Amino acid sequence: MEKRSILITGCSSGIGLCVARGLAQRGYRVFASARRKADVDRLTESGIENLESLQLDLDDSFSIINAVKLVTQKTGGKLYALFNNGAYGQPGAVEDLSREVLRAQFETNLFGWIELTNRVIPLMRAQGEGRIIQNSSILGFIGLPFRGAYNATKYAIEGISDTLRLELHGTGIFVSLIEPGPIESRFRANAFRYYQKNIDRDHSVFRDVYLGMESRLTREGPAMPFTLPPEAVLKRVIHALESKRPRPRYYVTFPTYLFGYLKRLLSSRMLDRMLMRVANAGEERPSDSD
Ligand SMILES: NC(=O)c1ccc[n+]([C@@H]2O[C@H](COP(=O)([O-])OP(=O)(O)OC[C@H]3O[C@@H](n4cnc5c(N)ncnc54)[C@H](OP(=O)(O)O)[C@@H]3O)[C@@H](O)[C@H]2O)c1
Repeated sequence: MEKRSILITGCSSGIGLCVARGLAQRGYRVFASARRKADVDRLTESGIENLESLQLDLDDSFSIINAVKLVTQKTGGKLYALFNNGAYGQPGAVEDLSREVLRAQFETNLFGWIELTNRVIPLMRAQGEGRIIQNSSILGFIGLPFRGAYNATKYAIEGISDTLRLELHGTGIFVSLIEPGPIESRFRANAFRYYQKNIDRDHSVFRDVYLGMESRLTREGPAMPFTLPPEAVLKRVIHALESKRPRPRYYVTFPTYLFGYLKRLLSSRMLDRMLMRVANAGEERPSDSD
């Protein structure tokens, strides 16, 4: 039988890399993409069986078009699944986000994902089946201070994926959202770069908060309890790929289960009180890496 193929974005590190490796080992034909050539070369040189690497920058429509063309050629138009994963977190108070910074966050985390998704849906429609798996976050359904830009993109991906799921009903194409809490990856280190680049700490009313945030973002190792390795996400991706009835949502990590439950149980005011307590306790919790 022909191997099932999957295209994954953001495979230079973290969850994308882990899922690419894990699915290749499981026998999928994995198209592992990264935006930088050096990472694409590294993936190629890794010599992992069933894994092919390619360049895909979510901020660049040409790059998306070329990647889909290449995958279409290589699979003869038989792409089974897409794992939308490549993204970054822009830290900072909402008051400190310029229009450009917010737009850049949406370009990568939302517009790039949907542009790519819309280019693979015709392949899936033609074959009468497919899986679209969106790596959302706990921050796709609860808000935390100083995560506004990232929060907004993850809420947006949740909303548009809910719509897409309904629109694809009956086509054989399933849309699933994965909602991880803190996962070991390069997320914090990358977020710190975006913080340094785009937030003017010394002219912000939140200067003191930012000083605390800096120490969290640069701390070595997991900065909070309940952090899981990326294999926890891989497990949910496998279910979303292989189940006859993939779930619309997959929680990953204890904080996601907890806040998923509390969100349904508490009033917004009560939930806010809890989230403020949690945020103040370490400035960052419950989804510190994210
Ligand atoms: N870690 C967590 O705690 C956590 C929790 C919930 C959800 N998530 C989600 O998990 C996904 C993966 O993040 P991660 O934790 O594995 O972090 P990560 O190690 O920082 O990986 C993020 C990946 O996204 C890529 N990326 C960033 N901008 C891109 C662009 N314009 N085009 C293509 N790729 C781009 C990065 O590439 P570069 O190396 O080139 O920057 C990297 O490969 C994200 O969607 C994130 O929101 C993470």
